[in-house]
Amino acid sequence: MVKVITYGTYDLLHRGHIRLLERAKALGDYLIVGVTADDYDKSRGKINVQQSLMERIEAIRATGLADEIIVEEYEGQKIDDIRRYDIDIFTVGTDWEGQFDYLNEYCKVIYLPRTEGVSSSEIRAKKKKLRLGIVGESQMIKKFVREHEFVNGLEISGIYTKSDAVKADVPKELLADSFESVLSMSDAVYIISRPEFHYEQVKAALMNDKHVLCESPITISVSQSKELFGLAKERGLVLMDSLKTAFSTAYARLLLLVKAGKIGDVYSVDATCTSLQKTDEYSWNSICAWGPTAMLPVFDILGTNYIDKTIYTHFDENGNDLFTKIDFHYEHAVASIKVGNGVKSEGELVISGTKGYIYVPAPWWKTDYFEVRYENPAENKRYFYQLDGEGIRYELVEFLKSADKRRIFSYIDSIVAAAISKVLEDYESGNTIAI
Ligand code: CTP
Repeated sequence: MVKVITYGTYDLLHRGHIRLLERAKALGDYLIVGVTADDYDKSRGKINVQQSLMERIEAIRATGLADEIIVEEYEGQKIDDIRRYDIDIFTVGTDWEGQFDYLNEYCKVIYLPRTEGVSSSEIRAKKKKLRLGIVGESQMIKKFVREHEFVNGLEISGIYTKSDAVKADVPKELLADSFESVLSMSDAVYIISRPEFHYEQVKAALMNDKHVLCESPITISVSQSKELFGLAKERGLVLMDSLKTAFSTAYARLLLLVKAGKIGDVYSVDATCTSLQKTDEYSWNSICAWGPTAMLPVFDILGTNYIDKTIYTHFDENGNDLFTKIDFHYEHAVASIKVGNGVKSEGELVISGTKGYIYVPAPWWKTDYFEVRYENPAENKRYFYQLDGEGIRYELVEFLKSADKRRIFSYIDSIVAAAISKVLEDYESGNTIAI
């Protein structure tokens, strides 16, 4: 019996895929189809896949061409599979010509001509693109413009900024002369203006039926934050908090390990985010710039129902908040965040539990790596998950998916967003201890 194997993502199954499978099947007596797992695709930069692994497997099964379907989960697995299943022929389309010649050592390699004029990418791109407008002065805008290129189905429609530095670095044709004009040319907006403008801008966008991705904090007032989330819900729109850390696979997996009890009961979460970068007239104060990110693991892990908190802060002679430490007291746990752009510290995250602890090295908010550590170091485990583009492209993919389905797919829910607003509201109202 001649055994043939082939691999692919098979997103939105099309005639190119089916023709490939038919010819692969005809090469032998038994066809195994390897379908790529979501994580594996993400790690090789394929982030736009629309269908879940199960949907893609079901589509292959429904063709009746595969005698067996397996999941491709890691780099190098092809060699393992060829040995394990005693494969005679490995085949893929000519778009991979030459790239699998190394498998000749294990079986015969055949490249089949690719069907012209169709691909999953093209089908995805044909869907109406979401036009995303941008408003704000942050340098982050440049990164968003760059990163959106990796996201199928999204285009930048216009940018309204007062910052000359941003204007100089983005394509001129994208520059708009008012927020209103950006709104009029967009289906959704990314708001990264200073936090005091968020409320008005988010509200205006929602009232004009635009989905909103807003840099955290969405507002520095609990009542305004609730009102905006209420408005989005009422109008069937997506209002999403933009906290890049929440979209990193490592951070999401770390949360799952904590929830699954890998380090026992959690008694303490300690997060530090500091930088000594130069600020300008458009810079956010350091509690708004760093506070939401630092609070994210605290609220994600311990919840938002803390008993009380103490905010220590240091202002310089010009009224700039250089450093803030917030201690949270929960019924059975404590947490602390340290943030600032006038004091430097180790930017790490430590989650302490009864069985062990999780350590995320600096800069933990751009996390692709963490360790679960135990009393006996032999039991320690290290985890690595690829993080491309600081998480921005994943965030955009999730936002696009959310806008498409009109449902938020993200770890930042409105309860966490409201809790972040509450802390900032207390901070702004002077509920702090000066140091
Ligand atoms: N394939 C083909 N003809 C096409 C598209 C794909 O023969 N027009 C083959 C590929 O060569 C591969 C298999 O189908 O052997 C699975 O390809 P996959 O990467 O899943 O499909 P694409 O349409 O190329 O996906 P994308 O556009 O996301 O790269």
